[in-house]
Amino acid sequence: MKKVLFSVLLFFISYGLIADEGMWIPLLLKDYNYEDMVRKGFKLSAEEIYDINNASMKDAIVIFGGGCTGEMISNEGLLITNHHCGYGYIQKHSSVEHDYLTDGFWAMSRDEELSNPGLKVTFLIRMEDVSERVLRDVTDEMNEEQRNSIIEAAKKDIVSAAKEGTHYQAEVKPFFHGNQYFLFVNEVFEDVRLVGAPPSSIGKFGGDTDNWMWPRHTGDFSLFRVYCAPDGSPASYSEENIPLKPKKHFPISLKGYKPGDFTMVFGYPGSTTQYIPSYAVDLTMNVEDPALIEIREAKLNVIKAAMNTDTKIRIQYSSKAASVANGWKKWIGEVRGLKRLNALEKKIRYEKAFTKWAQNNRTYSQKYGNILQEYQEAYNTYKPYRHAILYVFEAGFGPDAIVLARKMSGLYFLSQREPSQSNIDATVADLKNTIESHFKDYHEETDKKIMAEMIKLYYENVESNLRPEYLQDLSKYQKKFDNYAEAYAEAAYNKSVLANKESALTFLDSYKAKHYKKLAKDPIFSMYLNLMNLYQNKIASPYNNVNYTIDSLNRVYMEAQMLFLKDSTLYPDANFTLRITYGEVEGYYPADGVEYKYYTTLEGIMEKDNPEIYDYDVPDKLKDLFYNKNYGKYADSDGTMHVAFIATNHTSGGNSGSPVIDGNGNLIGVNFDRNWEGTMSDIMYDPDMCRNISIDIRYALFIVDKFAGATHLIDEMTIIE
Ligand code: ARG
Ligand code: GLU
Repeated sequence: MKKVLFSVLLFFISYGLIADEGMWIPLLLKDYNYEDMVRKGFKLSAEEIYDINNASMKDAIVIFGGGCTGEMISNEGLLITNHHCGYGYIQKHSSVEHDYLTDGFWAMSRDEELSNPGLKVTFLIRMEDVSERVLRDVTDEMNEEQRNSIIEAAKKDIVSAAKEGTHYQAEVKPFFHGNQYFLFVNEVFEDVRLVGAPPSSIGKFGGDTDNWMWPRHTGDFSLFRVYCAPDGSPASYSEENIPLKPKKHFPISLKGYKPGDFTMVFGYPGSTTQYIPSYAVDLTMNVEDPALIEIREAKLNVIKAAMNTDTKIRIQYSSKAASVANGWKKWIGEVRGLKRLNALEKKIRYEKAFTKWAQNNRTYSQKYGNILQEYQEAYNTYKPYRHAILYVFEAGFGPDAIVLARKMSGLYFLSQREPSQSNIDATVADLKNTIESHFKDYHEETDKKIMAEMIKLYYENVESNLRPEYLQDLSKYQKKFDNYAEAYAEAAYNKSVLANKESALTFLDSYKAKHYKKLAKDPIFSMYLNLMNLYQNKIASPYNNVNYTIDSLNRVYMEAQMLFLKDSTLYPDANFTLRITYGEVEGYYPADGVEYKYYTTLEGIMEKDNPEIYDYDVPDKLKDLFYNKNYGKYADSDGTMHVAFIATNHTSGGNSGSPVIDGNGNLIGVNFDRNWEGTMSDIMYDPDMCRNISIDIRYALFIVDKFAGATHLIDEMTIIE
């Protein structure tokens, strides 16, 4: 027993549950965390964070687009998020003539603000624990299917009751792997305009080289404005729309911070897996991450070489390159971090303690005694299919030409169902629009090279029964060519109508239903069909079956862990719902003999300055401001311009753009990254190594005011000096 206790304690220590780990549910803050927050320096009430009757911080926070957070910083709808969150929109407005990515963009008046069709922001109106209702009719005897259909029906009822008579949207999401459920009622605004973005030489300073790294000097912010109908309700873009008056916006503090100061991050972390078994950690470290890293590295090499040769290609591929590189580098950090933490061993030790605990109690041993073995079997089955599926989607769908084939597949299948010509014409018209935007960021030579790299990796790393048909037999090519993959790609792109815009449009111009047969023979389209066949016939069903098993094991194991660890407060894995994480401003020791400070300054930007390298080419204007020390009220009390800082807040992807808030509830920064040594925190948090990286709000305002001269924007903010 003593030994069990010891292991549990070790678990807490190694898992950091007693330090700043945790992504907490705002609704439950008062019961779970508030006292601890106050002890650490938080000075407001829990209601000032989350309240449904009065305006609270949650009313100033939005989901920005698909996967970021943003916050309101004026009572005229002004919103701040990261530059990398606004990047795709900034890019869409950019061309070689108006290169806002390179030069930045600042609307000097409201009518210069640029609309972004498709961009939405989502405010949380309220959340509610609906576990009881959702699980009311579920029993232990039910199989998974019965269980799921009862849950789905309950969710539907709850959602429709929540939406009734309002313009709100609602959804019910599982927590703790289906042991709890919460309802979220949201208000979604669709007229969101670009207000300001620094040039990439500030907003993306350091580029992918510095990404995920500390010390950091990236001015990673951009500004948008939320518009609504004259009556304040959500409306799609219209000239009549007016800036939204949010219920709450953040006051901005220019006072700075020092080590040990309380900070909290309030936003939307996407996904974490803190409670998974050792088999899952093993899979991530030894199968998934290595495969993804290898595939993405190959893509990146091609893309980067192409971007260096040509400005047009650089603009076209900048957004793609950033997102491919982002995952690639994160996974490298994750594997290293897990190894350094001995994550696998720790999990195994924890599982031993868990098993002992379960065996000591008859009910528990019946319910949970076998679960780890069941996991082991499930993961053994899962492994090859998981690897195969990553290859289908990362490598198979790697080239844009295959992505276009998927977009054309609707027409292909429609054509086989003897449709009317008008049906065909409508689909073709839609496709022509798709094609316009698809080819805007496409370069045939580059895509062809990506195809060749993907073919090589697929052929070399995946066993033949899990490869698509077109890769079954490349011996003909191998005999004829040293560069068999290049030759294969060359032949395909030469013949396919999907390889470039002209041929795609020509093909569609005279399209008749019977032409689906031509598509079936098109070399690139048939590669797509092969991939889908592989997926549907050989992977999907075994993969989904075992996934299903793993999901239900996850639910039961979570339930068991909640009993096993019942004396500690557990937080649910991130699931892209609003969470609070809090901690303190603090540096760290990345390696023996090395200490990292908790902030960086403009001096560091000047140190990195290198006009030869795109990512480190400091703009002259910024240099002038630096030499004249023209920092205005934005300088730190030490006289320097602080650029970024780190703290122990437990964040994840999706927290980009989240407000970093001090003990008085004021905005002091905008979260944008984690440190490389800490990216394993999605699986295992380490208080010594894990830090979130934020842009100092004073640097952002300095850029708006002194660099861009957009002082009118500062005037609408609430500034605390
Ligand atoms: N690493 C940050 C995040 O996960 C920033 C990514 C964007 N920046 C970049 N250089 N790719 O999203
Ligand atoms: N840059 C990340 C994002 O886009 C945040 C960094 C992280 O993963 O913590 O959400």
